Amino acid sequence: MILETTRLILRPWEDSDAEALYKYASSPEVGPAAGWAVHTSVENSLEIIQNVLSAPETYAVILKEVGHPVGSIGLMIGKASNSDIPDTEAEIGYWIGVPYWGRGLITESAREMLRRGFEDLQLDKIWCNIYDGNVRSYRVEEKCGFKFHHTTEKVPFPLDDTFRTVHTFCISKEEWLAKR
Ligand SMILES: CC(C)(COP(=O)(O)OP(=O)(O)OC[C@H]1O[C@@H](n2cnc3c(N)ncnc32)[C@H](O)[C@@H]1OP(=O)(O)O)[C@@H](O)C(=O)NCCC(=O)NCCS
Repeated sequence: MILETTRLILRPWEDSDAEALYKYASSPEVGPAAGWAVHTSVENSLEIIQNVLSAPETYAVILKEVGHPVGSIGLMIGKASNSDIPDTEAEIGYWIGVPYWGRGLITESAREMLRRGFEDLQLDKIWCNIYDGNVRSYRVEEKCGFKFHHTTEKVPFPLDDTFRTVHTFCISKEEWLAKR
């Protein structure tokens, strides 16, 4: 599936994207904020494309003006998510390379993923889990119409032995339709 917005093309990740992926995913400001490790080499990025980013409904975010992926966005449906949700619900995840922060690009792609989820895939609800303090991501959620749902304390952080507070946001199909 290939999706398009004004400035972006969202399409499945390809092996040939490994170099571009490494360029942005090697920044310490990106992965850890979302709970995944900094990429260590182009080979590591290729492995991630083949083993992680090949999941259904996971898209490379191609900025039309540069012609290569600058970020990633996806819906993890039902059991594919990190949460205990039914197959009619999904969790959204996203990131974008630091040079492209602050241009509303992930907000633009997240809006398209909501359309994909509610209109094409007929989902009932879409969730988002955000580590405490990730203000940039709260803003993406707010701008897309998500509402705060609950907070979970002491969630094990996947990259070390520490624990984090996670805030969970949600939008239902009805809320999305009312906002359009
Ligand atoms: C969160 C993230 C995806 C936002 O993407 P984006 O395309 O920059 O989103 P937006 O341009 O809509 O900006 C969202 C907010 O980030 C803040 N922001 C943007 N650029 C910034 C910068 N360079 N420095 C500080 N804050 C910035 C702004 O507050 C903005 O909100 P505003 O539009 O009300 O001003 C991006 O920062 C990122 O990839 N972060 C690391 C990975 C991550 O946290 N993923 C989400 C896990 S839940």
